[in-house]
Amino acid sequence: MHPDDTAPPLAAAPDRRKTWRAPAETSDAAAADTGVRGALGGSRLFEQPAYRAEAEAFLHFVEAAGPVAVEIGFDHGMRLLELARTQPEVRWLGLEVREARVLAVAPHCPPNCHVWRADARTVFRVLMPPARVSRVDVLFPTPWWDEGKRDKRLLLTPAFVADLARSLAPSGVVHVATDVGPYFTHVEALFAAWRAAPEPPPVGVLSRRERVCRRDGLPVWRGTWSPP
Ligand SMILES: C[S@@+](CC[C@H](N)C(=O)[O-])C[C@H]1O[C@@H](n2cnc3c(N)ncnc32)[C@H](O)[C@@H]1O
Repeated sequence: MHPDDTAPPLAAAPDRRKTWRAPAETSDAAAADTGVRGALGGSRLFEQPAYRAEAEAFLHFVEAAGPVAVEIGFDHGMRLLELARTQPEVRWLGLEVREARVLAVAPHCPPNCHVWRADARTVFRVLMPPARVSRVDVLFPTPWWDEGKRDKRLLLTPAFVADLARSLAPSGVVHVATDVGPYFTHVEALFAAWRAAPEPPPVGVLSRRERVCRRDGLPVWRGTWSPP
């Protein structure tokens, strides 16, 4: 008899998409704090002389006339570039923490598109002018499977939602999609006091994760909300 024949059958690995849990720390005190835990470079990054030019370029872009829309975590950027191409009247800002992605997309940006390697949490906390943004797309935000990283880096938290509420115009919308069901339950609770809004029209180019979900038949949860 082969030794493996006597071994109990291996338990099926739990599906981490079903067992994901939001960080325990959901205190509103974080929203009042000026710091952002685990932010790329820290919340005071843009006060440093080396980053002042980048911050000024960002402000120049968002302060110019016309509606401003933001895609957070644009990855390969094809969807962002398509939005900028098909909505030339909108100023499309892409925020992405991965430098290589930003460097790859930047040369293709039309004048109404600006990409920046920055942590969206810091940008919305310390730089985004109030009531300036008409739309924020957060497609498949990183769930951070490692709990330690999740505690520090999760994008959609009470603090970030408070910053979104301040930055969005009254008729502005946040659109979120994820294939992690419990993350969506967490997101729905964060936006419980907001108003449900119509989903933005589909974009001709899918994000990388959306394409994978379609290919593999994975369920996707989506929500769109306007500030309370
Ligand atoms: C799971 S990927 C999804 C990418 C793309 N939106 C899609 O649907 O395929 C999440 C993306 O968000 C970026 N990201 C994570 N945290 C971020 C943050 N705080 N600010 C900006 N980008 C962030 C990651 O680098 C990554 O590209």
